[in-house]
Amino acid sequence: MGNHAARRIAQLIDQLTAYSVAYHQHDAPLVPDAEYDRLYFELVDLEAQNPTQICADSPTQRVGELVSADFAAVRHRMPMLSLNNAFSADDINEFDRKIREQLDVGDAVALAYSVEPKLDGLAISLRYEQGVLVQAATRGDGEAGEDVSHTIRTIAVIPLRLQGDAPAVLEVRGEVYMPRAGFSRYNEAMHKTGGKLLVNPRNAAAGSVRQLDPKLAAQRPLAFYAYGLGECSAPLSDTHSGCLLALKKFGFPVAAQASVAINASGLLSYFELIGQQRESLAFDIDGVVYKLNRLDWQRELGNVSRAPRWAIAHKYPAQEAITQVLAIDVQIGRTGAATPVARLAPVFVGGVTLSNATLHNFEELARKDVRIGDWVVVRRAGDVIPEVARVLLDRRSERSVEFAPPTICPVCQSALAKTADEAVLRCSGGFICLAQLKAALRHFVSRRALDIDGFGDELIEQLVDLDLLQNPSQIYALTEKTLASLDRMALKSAQNVLSAIEKSRATTLERLLFGLGIRDVGEATAKALARHFGSIAAIQSADLSQLLLVPDVGPVVAGRVLDFFKQSRNLAVIEKLREFGLKFSEGEPQVAAVGPLSGQIIVLTGTLVQLTRDAAQAKLEALGAKVSGSVSKKTTLVIAGESAGAKLDKARELGVQVADEAHLLGILGMGSVV
Ligand code: IVH
Repeated sequence: MGNHAARRIAQLIDQLTAYSVAYHQHDAPLVPDAEYDRLYFELVDLEAQNPTQICADSPTQRVGELVSADFAAVRHRMPMLSLNNAFSADDINEFDRKIREQLDVGDAVALAYSVEPKLDGLAISLRYEQGVLVQAATRGDGEAGEDVSHTIRTIAVIPLRLQGDAPAVLEVRGEVYMPRAGFSRYNEAMHKTGGKLLVNPRNAAAGSVRQLDPKLAAQRPLAFYAYGLGECSAPLSDTHSGCLLALKKFGFPVAAQASVAINASGLLSYFELIGQQRESLAFDIDGVVYKLNRLDWQRELGNVSRAPRWAIAHKYPAQEAITQVLAIDVQIGRTGAATPVARLAPVFVGGVTLSNATLHNFEELARKDVRIGDWVVVRRAGDVIPEVARVLLDRRSERSVEFAPPTICPVCQSALAKTADEAVLRCSGGFICLAQLKAALRHFVSRRALDIDGFGDELIEQLVDLDLLQNPSQIYALTEKTLASLDRMALKSAQNVLSAIEKSRATTLERLLFGLGIRDVGEATAKALARHFGSIAAIQSADLSQLLLVPDVGPVVAGRVLDFFKQSRNLAVIEKLREFGLKFSEGEPQVAAVGPLSGQIIVLTGTLVQLTRDAAQAKLEALGAKVSGSVSKKTTLVIAGESAGAKLDKARELGVQVADEAHLLGILGMGSVV
């Protein structure tokens, strides 16, 4: 019986481990969750009846017992080093130069470096003996850390047992971190239940790992990336990148951005590349790490005190800073949205001085509980508008003042209203509201819309404040005399502006549509509408079902278009623009209103051999079909060319009809050309 149980336990551990790897590491579940749970509880039962058979690598051992008041000390058999930092290209050139000097290799030799994102979390060393996780420790002072096996075991992506043939002793070093999405989700849930919020992903990771109670850690969405080795009883590779590959095969997550770069120039390109991706990564990074790839050369170079000579961290400029909120203002945007904005004591962040930061909307302001006088962390992320990330509550003074959302527009005193489906408050004033009018004008003249050169913000301010412009159409009634009479407007600049206005009369329908500023109608939608209908008049008279035939126009956008053309003030502007001679029609609409394929929604995917995607789309549309970019339940047919991928899978999943290019040619009456 005991033997039987032991065999079944081993079998269950194998099976559950494989399922878990597929689920967590490959994002490809092999079985439904219920099946996993069934086997898991069978294992729990068996282990309860046979406590002597419980193995350290059993998935039931992820959440263990509370540890006593202190963590046990763990001496690292190989010290856990830290890294020197670099902040400039000069630092990197110097790093590479010194390595060449010490190794005595000239500039002509190509030096390979393993290049990796520098994750912002907590360094951990995982010790595996005979392929089984036996201990996890923090870095501590590099010589000795704390035993945090009980919380580390709860991290699902950390293998409890290694796959394949691992060395008898293997220490893996890496970073425990909290992915951004998990961090936000966790905090949203905590906010709803009034629980304690996590401050940032890095502190969250460190705080979770150093919990005494593994049950708490298990609730935190933690993850792990392996980036190096400690003690290892057999070499895995001659290079660092080779070791990372081996670790991946043993079942460890390795950052997908890890790569190899050659020479200082390659390092700097990698720094740029990751810098561009930084904001869209699933986790926070504070830099990238470069490591000389050849392990024999690493050994030859050695360390200076706690940091290796063969590796360096290249840091991105700080994107966060602390400052004080001096006031909270409300800004009204082009569509009337009221946005609370924090006025800040000026602070230098990531290369620029900030004195304003957005609070997004009033719900967000309430959630973050930002008050006037508070000390806050402001964050600047790439091209994104700087925002107030969080309040430093321990620095809040009793004199800080709560901010109550306004009920009327601070600019035009119209009512502010909230629609059911949105978090934003909107001013109902339309062009009566000078803030909305100014923003609408800025949009109308902008480069991607009517592209009126020289029509800057300052000009718009003056013209609106002097009541010389009440809507965009009046731009075309401006005279040289009016313009030249304005502040800082010489005759020459007035003439330049006028000729730019003249030039814009010959704009395209899509630019005009975009310039009108219909909510949710961006450039791409404006283009699609223009192509489909061919004139403003046709769009204006289209009903919901006709609008829905336009590629990528869904019910929301269609509703916005209908709303826009329902409002008499918009119709009046269009009428005026027409009178001023703006071009509203671009020849024939490119889609027959009705045709043999009317009502068909077709998706083209993969490579077509006989004709281009654009040609196929044009021909299908000419026959009345709508050609869409994505497969949904509404799709009536998917044409799958060569090497079709995700869209074909989606079509199969949804049971949408799929056909090949020959079928398409048949529909188009082009026969099959072989
Ligand atoms: S290597 C011998 N690689 O940065 C070099 N560290 O500032 C030891 N870190 O304590 C570290 N990502 O917590 C290395 N790809 C990466 C890293 C990384 C994050 C952290 C790690 C280390 C600290 C050093």
